[in-house]
Amino acid sequence: MKFLITAGPTREPLDAVRYLSNRSSGKMGYAIAAAALEEKHQVTLISGPVALADPLGAKVIRVTTGNEMFEAASAQIGACDVFVMCAAVCDYKPAHYSAGKMKKHDEPFALALEPTRDILASLTSVKHDCFVVGFAAETQDLAVNATRKLREKNCDLLVANDVSHADLGMESDENELMIFLPNDEPRKVARGKKTELARTLLKIILNARENCLTKKT
Ligand code: C5P
Repeated sequence: MKFLITAGPTREPLDAVRYLSNRSSGKMGYAIAAAALEEKHQVTLISGPVALADPLGAKVIRVTTGNEMFEAASAQIGACDVFVMCAAVCDYKPAHYSAGKMKKHDEPFALALEPTRDILASLTSVKHDCFVVGFAAETQDLAVNATRKLREKNCDLLVANDVSHADLGMESDENELMIFLPNDEPRKVARGKKTELARTLLKIILNARENCLTKKT
């Protein structure tokens, strides 16, 4: 089966030396890529800037900004069976980019930001044939937000994690997941190493995809 997986953060430049980004390490997306490769699936990994080695056997496309990630994903989505949008895409970008280095001043100043394109929602709003997995990192109202994102972003499955614990989720080697499927009770995947969780998640994804295909036929 062909997997398209996004991982890591995106970066939105402010000037020649500064950018907006987030703490995503890419570990979860890379672990899912490795788990899929272990099971002999084909993997295309679109990765934001991370300090991780390419998973052996994956086709890796390195990107920096959200726009670059969108362009890469939209070029690849037609050829995949499962699309896993694990990347932590910046929700906002600076409204203006300065080609040089912005000068420092003593006065406070406000940075004008504009929303970035929602890659997942854009790609799923047009006809496609792949099973779509979204992610949601939440600090509050996890179930409410996850259920809304599952619906609004047209996902077949949504993986949510609570990132309010300092030792879990972002940057950590461990995670704890809640899986949301349309018309099904949420399912918890207990705390564990991301490498192990990725193997469990892969089985859940393939099983849900199978059920989805059975319902359609
Ligand atoms: O940031 P948010 O919680 O809305 O992210 C939920 C899902 O949407 C994730 O799968 C994330 O990769 C995706 N997303 C996206 N483009 C954005 C923001 C989020 O594809 N600009």
